[in-house]
Amino acid sequence: MTANMMTALEKSKPAEGLWMVDAPVPEIGPDDVLIRINKTGICGTDIHIWNWDEWAAETVPVPMITGHEFAGEIVELGRNVTGLTLGQRCSGEGHLIGTESRQSRAGKFHLDPGTRGIGVNEQGAFAQYLRLPAFNVVPLPDDIPDEIGAILDPLGNAVHTALSFALLGEDVLITGAGPIGIMAAAVARHAGARNVVITDINADRLALAEHVVPSVRTVNVVKEDLNDVAHALGLREGFDVGLEMSGSQAALDQMVEALVMGGKIALLGIPPGTSPVNWGRIVFKAITIKGVYGREMFETWYKMIAMLQNGLNVSRVITHRFPVQEFAQGFAAMKSGQSGKVVLDWTL
Ligand SMILES: NC(=O)c1ccc[n+]([C@@H]2O[C@H](COP(=O)([O-])OP(=O)(O)OC[C@H]3O[C@@H](n4cnc5c(N)ncnc54)[C@H](O)[C@@H]3O)[C@@H](O)[C@H]2O)c1
Ligand SMILES: [Zn+2]
Repeated sequence: MTANMMTALEKSKPAEGLWMVDAPVPEIGPDDVLIRINKTGICGTDIHIWNWDEWAAETVPVPMITGHEFAGEIVELGRNVTGLTLGQRCSGEGHLIGTESRQSRAGKFHLDPGTRGIGVNEQGAFAQYLRLPAFNVVPLPDDIPDEIGAILDPLGNAVHTALSFALLGEDVLITGAGPIGIMAAAVARHAGARNVVITDINADRLALAEHVVPSVRTVNVVKEDLNDVAHALGLREGFDVGLEMSGSQAALDQMVEALVMGGKIALLGIPPGTSPVNWGRIVFKAITIKGVYGREMFETWYKMIAMLQNGLNVSRVITHRFPVQEFAQGFAAMKSGQSGKVVLDWTL
């Protein structure tokens, strides 16, 4: 490999798979930093890109270096960059935003309609080096290891969703025990919920949820009646807050039924295409629904780091670790539906 080349995982052609390639090290602009990547997490989005499904084919130009969940170290600073130093360990927000929109100018950066994603619309983090605007950098404190830094993006989805509504003393229902649902259960516990119940249709995922958050009540909705569980826990009128993290229509329907009158739902899961909703039921139950996209910049990052430093522990959600040369095994583990988070090590 020559001096200005690096190893990267690239979608090189419109077909299934990713390819390990030599790519040029990105050149940074005056407001950017160059980050040497140490660890990356594989996301469901990366699986869509690997599979080259309809969404990926419509969204992702090729060639594209994929990946957006990362931790690394700053190795170069653009000339305008202040407040960051060479050698600084960091993660970062993978949503790149503009500053012209109404919401950006109101300081609500996560609501910028022109958001572009690294690893989706812009060259990503599955590489030895990543160019990132300094604005997007989130420094990592010494007590947060790189592998946790590499899953802050999905933990941030969980935190953003879970903190959408007050949870102290509330009974919380989470549908979908994927990595994000499981981390949301840990956050709900940390935030003082009374009962945290998490549902899935996959027994392996529910076993992982119990392993990560032993105090959570898991429910396999194929085998168990959610209402029976709610009654057994002493809930008289239903759950107060629902966090939808499966993208399943059936799960959302079940959540609406299981909520108290005036309950609240934060929706993170993305249902495929359009799906029918019983709006009358939602109106008559006076339910509040909030859609959640990404992470708040940068309040979610601030809160999650603070919680990690104050007892929130999600490390057991990482079930597989591979050197990047074995990336195909990492993707196979993710695709099996039995893994939690899969982390790749780039310190070649
Ligand atoms: N809005 C955003 O910004 C954003 C960001 C990241 C992920 N997401 C979405 O959030 C969701 C969670 O992400 P993830 O990576 O944990 O996904 P995942 O696919 O790993 O987990 C989803 C889980 O839901 C379970 N499930 C399926 N049907 C169910 C049902 N009827 N009841 C209960 N559980 C059921 C699946 O078995 C699976 O374990 C996905 O839909 C993902 O697309 C949204
Ligand atoms: Zn992700």
